[in-house]
Amino acid sequence: MLIEWDDSYAVEDSIDEQHRKLFDILNDIFRCLRSGPVRARDRDHLTASLRDYCRHHFTNEEALMESVGYPGVERHRVEHARFSAKVEEFAAAPVQADAAGLLDLLAFLDNWLISHIINSDKRFGHFLRERDEP
Ligand SMILES: [Fe+2]
Ligand SMILES: [Fe+2]
Repeated sequence: MLIEWDDSYAVEDSIDEQHRKLFDILNDIFRCLRSGPVRARDRDHLTASLRDYCRHHFTNEEALMESVGYPGVERHRVEHARFSAKVEEFAAAPVQADAAGLLDLLAFLDNWLISHIINSDKRFGHFLRERDEP
């Protein structure tokens, strides 16, 4: 499925920008899978950008959490690690795998990201706002 950004996902400006970029990458992967037989080169390119950008985003988010003394940072890090493991599963799936299987895995990543933003990232956004406006 294509996923669409919604204002209700807002956490904090720099984080939101990175989340939008993740949405774009996941949507590019969806378009690639939907457009017919997947070429190994395209799939590898897209999964590499997903992996790299996840690493970038998670590192940034965790660093911001640490810099403000967010008490939920360790639990949050575990959630990020779980997602990264799923991304590796996606990257390791054979290109010839049936598109339905890859689409299922992609749908899992889409749903995970949105639910993680709504529940965990927004909890951090709430912490930031409380801290700025006690
Ligand atoms: Fe997060
Ligand atoms: Fe995030």
